[in-house]
Amino acid sequence: MKKGLRSRLTSYGDEEFALFLRRAFLKSAGYDDSALDRPIVGIASTASDFNPCHATVPRLVEAVSRGVRDAGALPFVFSTISLHESFIHPSTMILRNLMAMDTEEMLGRQPVDAVVLIGGCDKTVPAQIMGAISADVPSVMVVVGPTVTGRYQDERLGACSDCRRLWAAHRAGEIDDAKLAGAHGNLVSSHGTCTIMGTASTMAAMAETLGLMLTGGTSIPAVHSARLRHAEAAGRRAAEMAAAGGPRPSEVITAASLRNAVTVLQALGGSTNCIIHLAAIAGRLGIPLDLDEVDAIGRDTPVLIDVKPVGKGYMEDFHGAGGLPALMKRLDGRLDRSAATVMGCTLGEALARTPDWSDEKVIRPLADPISHGEALAIVRGTLAPDGAVIKRAAATQALMRHEGPAMVFDDIADLMARIDDPDLPVTADHVLVLRYAGPVGAPGMPEAGGIPIPRKLARAGVKDMVRISDARMSGTASGSIVLHIAPEAAVGGPLALVRDGDRILLDVAARRLDLLVAADEMARRRAAWQPPRLPGRGYARLYVDHVMQADKGCDFDFLQAEREGP
Ligand code: FES
Repeated sequence: MKKGLRSRLTSYGDEEFALFLRRAFLKSAGYDDSALDRPIVGIASTASDFNPCHATVPRLVEAVSRGVRDAGALPFVFSTISLHESFIHPSTMILRNLMAMDTEEMLGRQPVDAVVLIGGCDKTVPAQIMGAISADVPSVMVVVGPTVTGRYQDERLGACSDCRRLWAAHRAGEIDDAKLAGAHGNLVSSHGTCTIMGTASTMAAMAETLGLMLTGGTSIPAVHSARLRHAEAAGRRAAEMAAAGGPRPSEVITAASLRNAVTVLQALGGSTNCIIHLAAIAGRLGIPLDLDEVDAIGRDTPVLIDVKPVGKGYMEDFHGAGGLPALMKRLDGRLDRSAATVMGCTLGEALARTPDWSDEKVIRPLADPISHGEALAIVRGTLAPDGAVIKRAAATQALMRHEGPAMVFDDIADLMARIDDPDLPVTADHVLVLRYAGPVGAPGMPEAGGIPIPRKLARAGVKDMVRISDARMSGTASGSIVLHIAPEAAVGGPLALVRDGDRILLDVAARRLDLLVAADEMARRRAAWQPPRLPGRGYARLYVDHVMQADKGCDFDFLQAEREGP
């Protein structure tokens, strides 16, 4: 296979001319002939003023470039789409697949022998992994790293679990405007990704567990100098991979490493979003992610880290305690140590090089876990024939078996319009239902599933209720919340047929979510159901025409691993 500048030439029907022209343009950029003979390491930059989590990307790019040059290759920086959770309407999820396509196409069509992908904020990491798998170019992941905590008065604060906690307390009238305003500037105290085990940190951990990241890269805080040294080492390693032609993502990520990822996810009590992203990553390899296996691994894997939202600490505590390598060592017998990594060694060999010490207060021993397991459980039933997810580790245990009447919100606009209506006939016993908020319905499956407790109940002291939807929720959120109901309402899932007052039974121990309505009545409702109007043009149209349901990872059907046949 051709390498360096000779690879992926522009098709003029004359390869020598294409190379002659390419070199002429690079000479115009100041490169001499000797530089142009080296292997090329692309550096995918996601710097963007719309992505404050990635404000350190330019310094990481410099560090990666240094490492690439030190190892004798040529670094070429290029930009891709960048996604920040707070800057995309209605949700970054609608653009995850577009970013994956951007990454795949730029890797597959530029003369890139290897790449360092710099991601961080929630959807950027899965998008980059998905794109890298499909392009199958040797790839090393570097994340920007988590923020450090701030303080306000007597509280230690970090995004976004504390953002949500303080907002809920303010809605409930427990803290005043002045306290909220005082805390505001201390919630996100540095550049980097959210300070807790939300989606960004969970996905970073997935990249490391899958073998795509150098050991220990998950948790180094964004502003620590070690983060720059890690990036430089990633650049050096990518240069070696560029020269060697591998390993490629398809050689690193296997069914075994995906099982390792699910085990780590459960032990972290990580983000529910991660299940969708892992399903999409697996789909790119043609390995279906079995939700029942996700559930079974969860039953057998204790939650070991004391980090929010399921514990008390923050990512910097996890890092100081030994980080992901220490957690993986705890999970030793449960992980396949023979899984490959981009470092050219197995996961087991990589872990053997890390210190044995860890702080047992933050990374708990198997005999003294945060919870016995079942961090993320899969429920099925008449309301969720293809499954739904509940983060049991962050829920109220007393609500894990609950039957109550439905209070239905027909979409996010309806929810916003009525949830705080003082005349809403809602009680703490109700099951709050949000629908038409899934991949097709919203479209883009926003993180609206953490339905707020109606203000009048919050002010009366209600902290949690059973809430169900076809939406997602932030990895930083908590509560007795069933998400990702599949099939979603917009494609005619049974969620579309629920009416106010219908009885709903959630029984997590039995893994059931059922609508207690007779079959003949359901058939009558189904016959009268009308599908919603969907977007008529542009990317939104492409999205709703091709996005798969949550249990399949919400990837586009045409981006799955190539199959034989028409
Ligand atoms: Fe970027 Fe949380 S908003 S990681």
